[in-house]
Amino acid sequence: MKKALITGVTGQDGSYLAELLLEKGYEVHGLIRRASTFNTGRLEQIYQDPHLEGVRFFLHYGDLTDGSRLVTLLQKIQPDEVYHLAAQSHVRVSFDEPEFTGDTTGTGTTRILEAIRMIGLDCRFYQASSSEMFGATPPPQDENTPFWPRSPYGAAKVYGYWMTRNYREAYGMFAVNGILFNHESPRRGETFVTRKITRAVGRIKAGLDTELYLGNLDAVRDWGYAKEYVEAMWLMLQADEPSDFVVATGTAYTVRDFVGFAFEHAGLDWEKYVRFDERYLRPSEVDALIGDAAKAAHELGWKPRTLTPDIAKIMVDADLEIALGAAGRLD
Ligand code: NAP
Ligand code: GDD
Repeated sequence: MKKALITGVTGQDGSYLAELLLEKGYEVHGLIRRASTFNTGRLEQIYQDPHLEGVRFFLHYGDLTDGSRLVTLLQKIQPDEVYHLAAQSHVRVSFDEPEFTGDTTGTGTTRILEAIRMIGLDCRFYQASSSEMFGATPPPQDENTPFWPRSPYGAAKVYGYWMTRNYREAYGMFAVNGILFNHESPRRGETFVTRKITRAVGRIKAGLDTELYLGNLDAVRDWGYAKEYVEAMWLMLQADEPSDFVVATGTAYTVRDFVGFAFEHAGLDWEKYVRFDERYLRPSEVDALIGDAAKAAHELGWKPRTLTPDIAKIMVDADLEIALGAAGRLD
């Protein structure tokens, strides 16, 4: 049985990836941070009591800032595949906490790569690289597009990208970068723009809220469906040779467009509810990200199936159910 370690297993992507790998018959290990409250809400449907027979899903405490823990954990688990998804992943927050973001999102990648090298582990390594690395370089963006990061988060991801390539070139590791464009789902963190919008739509429709404050509505993004993007991660680690891949839909919508899709699906006129708040602007913005995933299509056979307007509907439906539940109005 193949063994995988997922860092960031409690996050949006980590939870979908854990489900996918369990379906494929893997033994799955996840790294979680100790917190004073439960942080495993996205894993409830796959959590298994470790006392039961035949359990294939295990959680281990650890933190990206703790290199020796990463060494002992990798030594103990001996995974065949390591999916490194953990990061301080919020771009706006990275301007408030640039040093912490560098330490976790950037140096955290080096700590894992170095832990693998130090113990001589023979495994395949996936780095969660980001379209945010392209930053100010105009679209369309593919694997050969130059990086021009516009945030401490983007700069930290560029460092992680190059460290991954360096370990591949220097030590012959099977280490790959998935350069993923924005991907969303009902499990998206509530402070990313799509989820912030669909959550507000649900709450407004349920009578719990009356307005939504947003920043820049003109930014263009290529929003895909997270559940499909974790399939691309797995495919990258099954390839014959290690290589880096862009994963994207190739479609482009503004934040305003997404607002329109979400409110319209709930039968609401967005202009009555959406207000501007400059607190949500960034010191330097990424104006447009639109990916060209032709390489992933040709070499991995990966293609997106769900596009932005439908993702907005899926997310609104899920958030409306949560809001109606909170308002005590579910049948
Ligand atoms: P997410 O929901 O924010 O999840 C981040 C995960 O990292 C969480 O499990 C979090 O744990 C964990 N984490 C954060 N700091 C940590 C630390 N110091 N030690 C251990 N774990 C830590 O992110 P996501 O959307 O699933 O994205 C997954 C990865 O892909 C991230 O690296 C992100 O930067 C990258 N990425 C995302 C997108 C996208 O559109 N979603 C696109 C390109 C790249 P807690 O649950 O305890 O907070
Ligand atoms: N979060 C947020 N909140 N963003 C807003 C808001 C708001 O109130 N109003 C407008 N926006 C705009 C942002 O300025 C940005 O241009 C766009 O909405 C998308 O913001 P986010 O959803 O926060 O995502 P992101 O594109 O900055 O970063 C995400 O995608 C990256 C891949 O390109 C994150 O998931 C990163 O981790 C990921 O690497």
